[in-house]
Amino acid sequence: MNEVVPSHVAIIMDGNGRWAEKRKMKRTKGHQMGAKALKRISEYVYDKKINVLSVFAFSTENWKRDKEEVDYLMDLFLKSFKANFDTIKQKGVKVVFSGIKDRLNDKVIKAMEKMSEETKNNKNGIFNICLNYGGQDEITNATKRISKDVKDGVISCDDITPALLNKYLFNDLPPIDLLIRTSGEYRISNFMLWQMAYAELYFTDTLWPDFDEKEMDKALLAYNKRDRRFGGVTKK
Ligand code: FPP
Repeated sequence: MNEVVPSHVAIIMDGNGRWAEKRKMKRTKGHQMGAKALKRISEYVYDKKINVLSVFAFSTENWKRDKEEVDYLMDLFLKSFKANFDTIKQKGVKVVFSGIKDRLNDKVIKAMEKMSEETKNNKNGIFNICLNYGGQDEITNATKRISKDVKDGVISCDDITPALLNKYLFNDLPPIDLLIRTSGEYRISNFMLWQMAYAELYFTDTLWPDFDEKEMDKALLAYNKRDRRFGGVTKK
């Protein structure tokens, strides 16, 4: 069977805390191992010719966590961006960020801007990092900007189509083909609601730090067995 490669894979990287707690370690250790898992998977994904990888790094709800954990995560983002930047550039992947920048600290924002700017012309794939992100916020924000453009006469009401709305999102990305959520939770958690309209959903009990290339292959195999009809009927 010829493998069908999804064009856009999105991942809710869940279970870092539980991974650490199971080992009597601090939750932050789980995040550190989660960052390692992300490095492995991101390299694997682009080698497999998957074009877009979106990951949920930090939700707008994650600020509710202890300050120590939030500070650790921000520092980990900064370190991971720095440590992996050369590989990303070498691979020719374009980095984009989805989310709202306020509340993020200046160092993180600067690192995000540098990565986006220096990779903006790359053509070998897109790495969409969702940071301080919420799906409903993204659609609300797009709606406000569309309303303003209608009011200012830049576009008319009749111009509003799904394709146009897509352009007003944080990034104009193709639809998600495959959503993976680790750690045995069966929720979407306000992640990329618009882009997920026809995504195939894949849930696994594996905790994110243990999600490796073999686990990715299992997800891709499951995706290959799905019958994607997009509301139509499969011809026999
Ligand atoms: C969810 O696990 C994970 C997060 C909130 C953080 C995800 C961050 C990384 C994987 C670090 C690397 C990321 C980048 C972009 C460099 P959880 O803490 O909710 O786990 P639990 O449900 O077991 O408590």
